[in-house]
Amino acid sequence: MPPKIVSVGDVVETLRGFEPEPFTRDRILGYLSEVEVDRASLEPYAHFSAERYTRNLVHVDEVFELMVLCWQPGQRTPIHSHNGQLGWMVTVRGALAVVEYKYLGCNAPENQQVSGLDCLAGATEIHLDRGPVHECAPGGPVATVDKTHTIHQVVVQGREPAVSLHLYSRPIESCVAYDLKAQRCWRRELSFHSRYGQVVAEVEGPAPSRLAGRRELPVLR
Ligand SMILES: [Fe+2]
Repeated sequence: MPPKIVSVGDVVETLRGFEPEPFTRDRILGYLSEVEVDRASLEPYAHFSAERYTRNLVHVDEVFELMVLCWQPGQRTPIHSHNGQLGWMVTVRGALAVVEYKYLGCNAPENQQVSGLDCLAGATEIHLDRGPVHECAPGGPVATVDKTHTIHQVVVQGREPAVSLHLYSRPIESCVAYDLKAQRCWRRELSFHSRYGQVVAEVEGPAPSRLAGRRELPVLR
């Protein structure tokens, strides 16, 4: 059956209707797999930057946050964790790759023993195993973030800009970012380039750790 075309506003309303019951990976995956988000409805949130990929907030409440990420060719996230979140990603335009990593160990494992955060970070010896690469394109499967030990990196593929829709539950304000070449990890504050269509990056400023994370990243293919 062809996917039902919905606006991003429809997605927010449907998800809010889901809220009385727990957000499970498969419940949300089932919904997002049946719909196609109308690209025109994302235009108010499609703000690009030559400096870095942008996070553009569509909706946030206690249960979930929905955002549009805009990527120029060559842009990528650092390798990062998700602090115990569930996540779903739909590629709307262009091509992205998600590179999985597996945590093997580090020299500060005691920093994982903290309430409400996956880890305080701060290790200076980090062992991650690079895992499979998932290609993401419009019409392809919804990519997911699992609650336990998700570590990955998202990288633009090709020469075209990309746009992706990201749903996370519950909202988080920071995660762990890893620089394998420098052998360090740190808590990365997450900020938005725009909120509800209004650019706020000049007011809120870029997260310093996000800039730091761009320097020493491995080249993919
Ligand atoms: Fe991620």
